[in-house]
Amino acid sequence: MSTQSSEYKRITTKTVLAMKRDGERIAMLTAYDFTTARLLDEAGVDVILVGDSVANVFQGLETTIPVTMDEIIYHTKVVRRAVKRAMLVADMPFMSYQVDIKEAVRNAGRLLKESGAEAVKMEGGQRIVPLIQQLVDIGIPVMGHLGLTPQSIYKFGTYEVRARESAEAKQLLEDAKALDKAGVFGIVLEKIPDALAAKVTRSVTCATIGIGAGAGCDGQVLVTNDMLGMNEQFKPRFVRQYANLSDTMRTAFRSYMSDVKSGKFPSKKESY
Ligand code: KIV
Repeated sequence: MSTQSSEYKRITTKTVLAMKRDGERIAMLTAYDFTTARLLDEAGVDVILVGDSVANVFQGLETTIPVTMDEIIYHTKVVRRAVKRAMLVADMPFMSYQVDIKEAVRNAGRLLKESGAEAVKMEGGQRIVPLIQQLVDIGIPVMGHLGLTPQSIYKFGTYEVRARESAEAKQLLEDAKALDKAGVFGIVLEKIPDALAAKVTRSVTCATIGIGAGAGCDGQVLVTNDMLGMNEQFKPRFVRQYANLSDTMRTAFRSYMSDVKSGKFPSKKESY
């Protein structure tokens, strides 16, 4: 018997795995602030990610490389206050888990203890398997991230689709199986061919969450600001725009300015 995610009080790793098992698609979006997180949670989004994309959409940076542990903890704490039902996942920033396992475990623990995240997400394949095993053993749920991994942008040199070549595709499949075996509850698959993402999805017991990886994944994730049309400069084909908030906001700002300048705001009713 399948259970719809709307019937769950709180989404947990168990729920996510049950959704994969039952063929119910998982909807994940990002949040970095209280108000957006509250709206996402009220809408019933299953998983909310405090992504290191905070660099691009909140901090105005070109890459996710400079994001720090303290910044992710700050944004996750803020989001935590709003989230009642969704599962809250936070990104491990670049260099918070690459130096050595002890430091990585400490940082992942900090994320859970200090920010209220329920799971951590980290980029990488077989190299991070020993870390994942240790975290899962301690009781820290882990979500993997394969394909286009933005923390490796200087290695890739481009944000183009990954794993089009068979050697990279084979490696990605092996990495996904290794992460799955190590105990991740989910893997983000970013910007890879849809046939490969579907094959990975069939090959692992954890849930795959695609972004630019086609419809064959167990769920989908988008950066919230992108799907709301808040960044007119960034329009890759995998982003479906569900609103045009740039236009809506600009129009509102201009109307406000015009009302202030003309003395139409505030009115008598808006005064004390
Ligand atoms: O940082 C982020 O927002 C992400 C998503 C794109 C999956 O990693």
